[in-house]
Order: sequence, then C-alpha cells, then structure tokens
Amino acid sequence: MKAGVFGVGSALPEHIVTNADFAAYLDTSDEWIVRRTGIRERRHLNGSCSLHDLAVAACLQALRDAKRAPAEVDHVIVSSVTPDRLMPGLAPGLADAIGANGAGAVDINAACAGFIYALDQAAALVESGRAQLVLVCGAEALSRITDRNDRGTAILFADGAAAVVLAAADVQRGCAPFVLHSDGIHGDLLYATNDERLMRMEGQEVYRHAVERMVQATTEALDIARLTVDDVDLLVVHQANQRIIEAAARRLGVAEEKVFINVDKLANTSSASIPLALHQAEREGRLKPGDTVAVAAFGAGFVWGAGVLSWKERVHVTA
Ligand code: ACO
Repeated sequence: MKAGVFGVGSALPEHIVTNADFAAYLDTSDEWIVRRTGIRERRHLNGSCSLHDLAVAACLQALRDAKRAPAEVDHVIVSSVTPDRLMPGLAPGLADAIGANGAGAVDINAACAGFIYALDQAAALVESGRAQLVLVCGAEALSRITDRNDRGTAILFADGAAAVVLAAADVQRGCAPFVLHSDGIHGDLLYATNDERLMRMEGQEVYRHAVERMVQATTEALDIARLTVDDVDLLVVHQANQRIIEAAARRLGVAEEKVFINVDKLANTSSASIPLALHQAEREGRLKPGDTVAVAAFGAGFVWGAGVLSWKERVHVTA
C-alpha cells in the first residue's frame, strides 16, 4: 500500500509586518532585506489568535479538501519548535479540536526540516499498514523566539500553519522514499537555548550548508525514485531566503518556472513553509493532480531531507 496526498489546507495570522516596520527601529532597509533575502513582508501572531487556532483551521481545511471526516484520522503529527505551551505539544489539543478523538497525536521537532521528517513518518505509518489516514501539520510561531533587536535574524522569521492529508491509496508513486540526514556537530550555528529562548544564527555558514545539503538530498531522492530533474513538475524548497532557493535550483538544473517561491510574502515559517508553499502553488494553478513534486528542507541541528511525491494522484477517492 502506498501513501498519497489527498488534501491540503493552510492558515496565516492576519497581522502583516513589512520591511519598513523593521527599518523604523533597526539599522536596516527595505532595499537591503529584499536584495539579500527576497523578503518583503511576513505574518506574525499578535495575540488575536493562538498557534493552536491556526493549526486547527489548516487541518480542517485539509480534511475538507480531501473529503475525509475527522473521525477517519488515525494519527496527527505536528511539526513545531514553537508550540503554545512547553507541554503538552500542539497535536493532542489539535486532534481533539478537529474531532479526531482518540487519534494518535504527537509533536516532532526537526526545526525547519520538520515537515519533511513528519511526512516521512506519516508515509511509513501508512505504508506499513499501521494507519490509514494521517494528518501532517507544520505549525510555527517563530516570532516568539526571534530577537526583534538582532537585524541579522529579526527580518527573516515568521508565523503560519499548513497541513496535508496523507492516506493509504492505490497510487503509482505517492510518497517515494524520503532521504533524511543530520550533522549535529553544527548545532551551535543555529540554536535557541532554554534560558534565552531566542534564535541565534551564523547566517553565512547556515546559508552555505543549506544550499549544499538540500542539493545533495534532492539528488539522492531523485536517484532513489529513479527520476531526473526533467520529471519534476515543481520544486518546493524550504522558504528561508530567495537566494538559497535560487542557488539550489540552479545547481540542481531545475528551470526557473518550475521553482516555487513565496518567501517574499511569508518569510521563513520553518516547518510550515513547505505545506504553505504547496497550498499556495495549488491555488495559483502551479500544482495539479498527478504532478510530481520534489521537496527539500534544511534546519537547525543540522537536519535536512528531501523527497519526491505525486500531488493528489487520485483525487477524493476512498482509500
Ligand atoms: N540589514 C542591514 N544589514 C544587515 C542586516 C540587515 N537586516 N543583517 C545583517 N546585516 C549586515 C551584517 O551585520 C554585516 O555587516 P558587516 O559587514 O558590517 O559586519 C553585513 O550585513 C553582511 O552580513 P552577512 O551575514 O554576511 O549577510 P548575508 O548576505 O549572509 O545575509 C542572511 C544574511 C540573510 C541571514 C543570510 O546569511 C541567510 O539567509 N542565511 C541563511 C539563513 C537560513 O537559511 N536560515 C534557515 C535555515 S534554518 C531555519 O530556517 C531555522
């Protein structure tokens, strides 16, 4: 049995923070931020709703899109480094709120690569027959752990949630095997400590590793799936910085029109960034049923990974 994507949903905070908002109190400018990152604006939670609320909205939308009922959900996997409370994680409350009563519910933390890790775990549950339907949600409020006075990081990070429904299905590709890696020796290049609770980053080093690792992992994932870049309809790379995305795409040899970028409007939403991008790509007609999508992400740890999946290869079928 294979695991196919059947639905997608997303939710963003209403509050928009522009580059001008940072330039008003930091030694930075719209021109610098756009030139070095591609980011023009981002969304921040500002107290009017919680991350739980965003995750619930995203998951309900994904279930509706898949035409599946909450009671059918076997597992809820949430990827987040910024849950509303230290414990419990977001997943149990989310399962309860959407009506997936009694479903397995767990949070995982793999920083910005979290969605790829969560998707891999969900696919493994489905492929092994341990679950029929898994909700995979990336939910982040990075504004909570961003130092507003550090111009090197304040401008980069943002909030949002998005989810996909993964279900057992008779599909050709579904989720091809994912490639996951880590290299903990670099843990001090991007971290937030329990005491300080703010992200600290060696930007240039992270940049260099991010490009290299995502290119390597995507190449591996394509090889395992016996595909080439020409078979890829859309490349969705973690939206950290437009220059990182474009450099990775160039090195992979993926044509510009096959690369999805929304970092300009949403900035870096960590593990929410890939499902947010997938949903927006679908809404904009850039992702159609049966398309082959390559995804890749890189984050604190370092942890990184990539995979190839077919997008809604079968739409609205009962598994
Ligand atoms: N405005 C103006 N100047 C700035 C700003 C800013 N917002 N931020 C940094 N600078 C300055 C620096 O202080 C430095 O000044 P100096 O030369 O006087 O010391 C100069 O700009 C160059 O700094 P760099 O850090 O070399 O700038 P760079 O071009 O590398 O851009 C950036 C910095 C945007 C952080 C980039 O390194 C980057 O995107 N790194 C990767 C981040 C990333 O991918 N993170 C995601 C992976 S993990 C995760 O998502 C949690």
